[in-house]
Amino acid sequence: MELFRNKLNKNKIPKHVAIIMDGNGRWAEKHGNARVFGHKQGVESVRSTVEGAGEIGIEHLTLYAFSTENWERPKYEIEALMSLLIFAIESETESLMKNNVRLSTIGDLNKMPGSVRTKLNSCINTLQSNTGLNLILALSYSSKWEITEAVKKIVEESKSGKLNPDDINDKLFEKYLSTADLPDPELLIRTSGEFRISNFLLWQIAYSELYFTEKLWPDFRKEDLFRAIFDYQNRERRFGKTSEQLIS
Ligand code: IPE
Ligand code: IPE
Ligand code: MG
Repeated sequence: MELFRNKLNKNKIPKHVAIIMDGNGRWAEKHGNARVFGHKQGVESVRSTVEGAGEIGIEHLTLYAFSTENWERPKYEIEALMSLLIFAIESETESLMKNNVRLSTIGDLNKMPGSVRTKLNSCINTLQSNTGLNLILALSYSSKWEITEAVKKIVEESKSGKLNPDDINDKLFEKYLSTADLPDPELLIRTSGEFRISNFLLWQIAYSELYFTEKLWPDFRKEDLFRAIFDYQNRERRFGKTSEQLIS
């Protein structure tokens, strides 16, 4: 079987890939285990995916790890997820370092437990001089939250005279999102066979290619990432134009 990795066009690697890592609970159930077991297995998928992304030269990888809505889950599951996050950050820092990965976050981090923030910040500091893949964890993130925050800032700055409302356009608006320094993802992947966005990067995926796979997140590996990118590379992105216009 030929590997998707070998089929990839090196000149058409997306700069930014975003992933909705879904299906941990169902994976655990399938294996006769508690949901938390699926979250634990998901760490291995993150490791493989991050490694693969770095290997083929993706610049930014955004992983949806915990949504604003996920705060509504049972308390014990939230606690287990937070503990796992601390454990994973600690255990993965060394291999992230080795792979030259930088780390950042988007989301309402103030809502995260202090212990998680401390671990995250220390990991971010350790990795800050790395020059390879930029790994962005979306934590306590939702797109409606992010857009609302942006609007609030814009209104404040307009009221105080720092910003002229006549200057507001889509390019300016983007500067107020937590992804201000990032290109929009060319490709969004969601695992577990659900066909929805679940409040993730709504603004930024306006023109992203969407890729859905039945694979549950704990079964996802770098070769699945390469398959998704191969699929992406064989699409025609027209951005509203006609095919003929793209050729000329
Ligand atoms: C994704 O897996 C992980 C998080 C949302 C934190 P789920 O926990 O949503 O797993 P399913 O969708 O219930 O199978
Ligand atoms: C989306 O998955 C959020 C993350 C992967 C972190 P969910 O499992 O929370 O989404 P829904 O409930 O299926 O929309
Ligand atoms: Mg889910």
